[in-house]
Amino acid sequence: MIVKSLHAGNFRNIRSADVEFSETFNFIVGGNAQGKTNLLEALHMFSLGRSFRTRRSDELIAFGEDFLFLKLRGLSDSGVGFTLDLGLERGGRVTASANGGRLPGLSEIIGMIPSVIFAPGDVELSSGPPAGRRLYMDYTAAQVSPPFLSDLKEYRRALGQRNVLLKRMQGEARERRDPEDGRSRRAQLDAWDAMLAEKGAGVVAGRREILSAVAPAARGIFAEMAPGAGDLGLSYHCSFDEGEGGRPSVREALSAALLRGREADRRKGFTGTGPHCDDMTIRLGDVDLRRFGSQGRKRLAAIALKLAQAEVIMERRSERPVVLLDDIFSELDSATACRVRGLLSGRYQSFVTSPKLSDLGECPGGGIVIKVENGALSTGVRA
Ligand SMILES: Nc1ncnc2c1ncn2[C@@H]1O[C@H](COP(=O)(O)OP(=O)(O)O)[C@@H](O)[C@H]1O
Ligand SMILES: [Mg+2]
Repeated sequence: MIVKSLHAGNFRNIRSADVEFSETFNFIVGGNAQGKTNLLEALHMFSLGRSFRTRRSDELIAFGEDFLFLKLRGLSDSGVGFTLDLGLERGGRVTASANGGRLPGLSEIIGMIPSVIFAPGDVELSSGPPAGRRLYMDYTAAQVSPPFLSDLKEYRRALGQRNVLLKRMQGEARERRDPEDGRSRRAQLDAWDAMLAEKGAGVVAGRREILSAVAPAARGIFAEMAPGAGDLGLSYHCSFDEGEGGRPSVREALSAALLRGREADRRKGFTGTGPHCDDMTIRLGDVDLRRFGSQGRKRLAAIALKLAQAEVIMERRSERPVVLLDDIFSELDSATACRVRGLLSGRYQSFVTSPKLSDLGECPGGGIVIKVENGALSTGVRA
């Protein structure tokens, strides 16, 4: 997928803009608070149908105005040109049209423009708590496998219900209990455990499968960005003793772990084991990157993870995603910045923001520079 141009009106401080993009590399330069992230946000709106920064869409409309519009012209990898329009009136909902025809709902637009965005906070992916890495695995797997998404949803629902039951039992434990109630509670727990074990095994299998595709892609990308830094290795970390491997065995193992943990869960009032506690281990050579890696390496690993996600989505959906990188070039040394740029230009259409043109260094390569000043966009050639 290639974004050919964007026409924007009243989108945050971008009052009126008409830009033709480079099919390879777009370097977006401007001082602080000039509108660089706003431009990425506008482009990313076409992936999700909403902002990646806020859930309150009214905030997107320029101060003092009543509506905004965005029009994107694109070219699919199969060579078909198309236009997408988004509109929003103050107090209303975002509406979407494709090739001039109004779409019934925003969900129709999701996935039409696959994109990957990396902002400074995303370094958390490699250095932060496990929840971010679970979300990464789940999001990637869900993009390419509908059965995984259904297992994940049912797992989460059953987990929520089991936790409600545990909380209730916690309260009841303080009162005098009827033995009949005890038996009925046990039967209810048995039922939730069976559901959790079955769907949980599906979740673990889906995450493992997606990691087997993401891991070699991430290793290759990382090696290009940081040659000689060691091999990047990703592996699934199961929080319970998982048995011999394979879905039936994970189901039995999870079922046993839930039963073993029942007393403890009842005291705590929530489920303390299962795929919702699992993690992805990231190693660089022989060491655990999260514990022993430098900040720079963690940042590159997180970028590699995001790009590997793009790669896997692209392979399975045969549509190349657009890559958006917000404010990371200024944090890379110039040799690394050049390698990242080379890697991007060779594979994706990318949009990279930076406060200074000099952050681009002396790297060779085509593309364009887009200057952003107080919401006004102007295009130059040297990039
Ligand atoms: N709804 C809005 N209307 C007008 N200006 C806005 C709106 N929302 C944000 N801004 C302005 O956009 C600017 C921030 O743009 P941003 O793209 O985040 O900057 P940066 O170039 O640092 O990435 C600020 O000056 C802010 O006041
Ligand atoms: Mg910004």
